[in-house]
Amino acid sequence: MIDLLKSVDDLARQKYDVLVPTMGALHAGHQSLIKLAKSKSENVLVSIFVNPLQFENKDDLINYPKSLEKDLELAKAAGATAVFAPSESVIYPGNIEKISAGPIGELYEGAARPGHFSGVLTVVKRLFDLVKPKVAVFGEKDFQQLFLIKQMVKQLSLPIEIISAPTIRDLDQVAVSSRNIKLNESERNTSLVIPQALKMATVEQMKKLLATESGFKVDYLEVIDERTFMPAAADTINKRVIIAGWVNQVRLLDNMRMGVNK
Ligand code: PAJ
Repeated sequence: MIDLLKSVDDLARQKYDVLVPTMGALHAGHQSLIKLAKSKSENVLVSIFVNPLQFENKDDLINYPKSLEKDLELAKAAGATAVFAPSESVIYPGNIEKISAGPIGELYEGAARPGHFSGVLTVVKRLFDLVKPKVAVFGEKDFQQLFLIKQMVKQLSLPIEIISAPTIRDLDQVAVSSRNIKLNESERNTSLVIPQALKMATVEQMKKLLATESGFKVDYLEVIDERTFMPAAADTINKRVIIAGWVNQVRLLDNMRMGVNK
């Protein structure tokens, strides 16, 4: 079995070089992060904590899938050394400094979910303080989150290397997500339009394709500059398309580097 750590004392028994923060309900996307972590060091800690601070909707928090036993197996199979699954009082014993995500934290996902990124950064900083890893791994799937975490590490001069991992997709190209289990067959079919649109060469083509799928309600579709997260200009070198929207009650998000996924 894999070590299951609950307390700050449990954590203190061993040093972990690489941290992979998660909220559990592990899937192939999380496992790819753990495998990448393992390629960097023998000591890989996976954290599982459903962070109340980043849920602006109480129902989403309450209904977030929980599967610790299965998570332990999946984490172990991917090469994790231990899993840190603390209770809320370990993460938030009171007086934990809240981290602001700044202006970019208010855009896109942040506009749809006020306070979300400040909650993400606050828990990630807390996990960094508790674990003190040399390296932490995050997925490109949540590209704005990845950007804001890198920005925080830079601004606070934290001695942690942030490694990003590519998005794992199912065979139909839909990005793997814990939310996908909420999609019925017809909704899943609808969601195919997202990766299809992201692969188009121009925003006009993307919009045209999305307009053919009435079941997908676009929240935002933007081409951004990867270095700044600002809307890309014609001469921007690293362009990324970010998209989010709704298939009935399920919010889906995805992104792709522009023009490379033909
Ligand atoms: P969670 O949604 O569990 O995701 C944990 C990590 O897995 C994130 O870095 C996310 O980008 C990555 N991930 C999710 N789906 C992926 C996929 N299909 N391919 C590759 N990576 C994928 O993101 C969070 O948790 C939380 O906000 C957290 C950072 C843990 C802070 O609470």
